[in-house]
Parts: sequence; structure tokens; C-alpha cells
Amino acid sequence: MSLSRSLKGSIALVTGAGSGMGRATAEIFGAEGAHVAVTDFNAGTAEATAEAIRQAGGSAQAWALDVSDADQVRTVVAAVADRFGGLDILVNNAGISAFSPIDSPDYDAVWAKSLAVMLTAHQVTIRTALPWLRRSKAPRIVNIASTEALGATSRDSPYAAAKAGVTGLTRALAVELGKEGITVNCICPGPILTGMTDRIPDADRATYARRRTALGRYGDPAEVGHMTVSLCLPAASFITGVTIPVDGGLMARNA
Ligand code: NAI
Repeated sequence: MSLSRSLKGSIALVTGAGSGMGRATAEIFGAEGAHVAVTDFNAGTAEATAEAIRQAGGSAQAWALDVSDADQVRTVVAAVADRFGGLDILVNNAGISAFSPIDSPDYDAVWAKSLAVMLTAHQVTIRTALPWLRRSKAPRIVNIASTEALGATSRDSPYAAAKAGVTGLTRALAVELGKEGITVNCICPGPILTGMTDRIPDADRATYARRRTALGRYGDPAEVGHMTVSLCLPAASFITGVTIPVDGGLMARNA
């Protein structure tokens, strides 16, 4: 059994890779020698990430991709496989911040959008990528959920429901695809400084992190990206169906 820690020549597709954790993850894949398909709803930020990877000596190409549009997913996944000669790794990272009180008039709209972008999209990208993953020597899927899948914050039930759904989808597909050697894992980031959280005032972020996490601080997007990339190594071949908090000890802390 060859248990390599090298991703050189692997082909990785990351969604929502124009910002935050997706960008950090794509850059780490690039630094590790993978060919990176940088996809994002925002074509400009996707291109900026791909350019940063190329500037650092890596291999990357950008595609505009709205993960909630199944036709776009099919087109882009096929284009990525065509461009790089296959697909080994899929990271479902794209997400949106979606708070809505249960009595809010826009609750149904927030619910529909949250599930479309952060749950349905995951199964659509996975089903679309499967023919190529099945031909890979080390096929890996990582889904990004949240600590909101494990606990919850008031007014975030659409987000929490989508993220909890991701943990169930991860387990079920890990079991279903395991005999084919395809691993499916899930990461639950805690508070991370990204485009999603940068509008929270510094003082509020600091207070939250001090009160809630063990490490007493927000995380850096690369601290999540390294966990994601680690789960995609050829050597990570016996890890599947797990949900890993990368949260500075948020889930561990009671008081
Ligand atoms: P971010 O806002 O920096 O990046 C999210 C990216 O997803 C953006 O580039 C955005 O354009 C893209 N995106 C949004 N809708 C899309 C769509 N329909 N199709 C394709 N791309 C789309 O946010 P961050 O924090 O890096 O988020 C990454 C993931 O981490 C998300 O799934 C989020 O829910 C999750 N997360 C974030 C936490 C945090 O504290 N920042 C905590 C726990 C989970």
C-alpha cells in the first residue's frame, strides 16, 4: 500500500474559492503541487485566487460557478476534468451567511436559498464529480459544514439545518461510497476571520472568541485549509465519514 503525503499532480476542485477558507484551501493545494480548479460565484475573486496560485509557482485555473445552478455545475466539472485530465478531490466549501428569525416574512426565501447553496449543491457537485472520482487513485471529498451543525445560535435555523444536513450527507455517502475507496469527510469550522465574519466589529469578535473558544481567538482561514488538505492526502485513506471541528475548542468548552 502506497501511503503518500504528496498531492503533486492531483486535481482538486474547490467551490467558493474566491474568498476566506476556500481561497486559503485552494492556495494550500497549489503550494502542495496540485492542479487547482478555483471556482466561485464571483468570477473576479476566483480569477484573483487562481492568479495568486500561479504567481506562487502553482497550477490553477478559475471558473465562475454558482453551486446552486446544477447546469453550471455539470458544465464546470466537465470543463475542469477536460482541462486537467480528471478529478481527484472535491471540496464543497461555498456558503452564505443566512440569519432569519422563525417568524420573519422572508423565512421561506432564506430557508430555500440556504439549503440550495449549502446542502443541495453538495450532493449535486458530488454526483456530478463521481464518474471522474471513480477513476482516481485517491478520490477524496471534503464538505465544509460549521459548528452550527453541532450547536446553534438563535435566528440561524436555516443555516443550522443546512449545515446539520451536510454532516448527515457526509456520513451516508461515506458509507455508500466506501467500498469504492472514495472517502467523504466533513469539517466544522468555528469562528474564522473571513469575508463572512469581517463585518462583525473587532471588539465583538474578540469578546465572543474570549468567552466561547478554548484558544480565546478567531481562527485564520489557512488553519481550516490545512485540515481540509490533510483529509485529501493519498495517505488519509482510512479516514471517512468523520465530522471534525476546527474551532479553537469551541465545542469542547462549557464555561
Ligand atoms: P466567505 O464569504 O469569505 O467565502 C464564501 C465564498 O463562497 C465567497 O467567495 C462567495 O462568493 C462564495 N459563494 C457564495 N455563494 C455561492 C454560490 N451560490 N456558488 C458559489 N460560490 C458562492 O466565507 P467563509 O467563511 O470562507 O465560508 C466558507 C465556508 O465556511 C462556508 O460554507 C461557511 O458557511 C463556512 N463557515 C464559515 C465560518 C466562519 O466563521 N467564517 C464558520 C463555520 C462555517
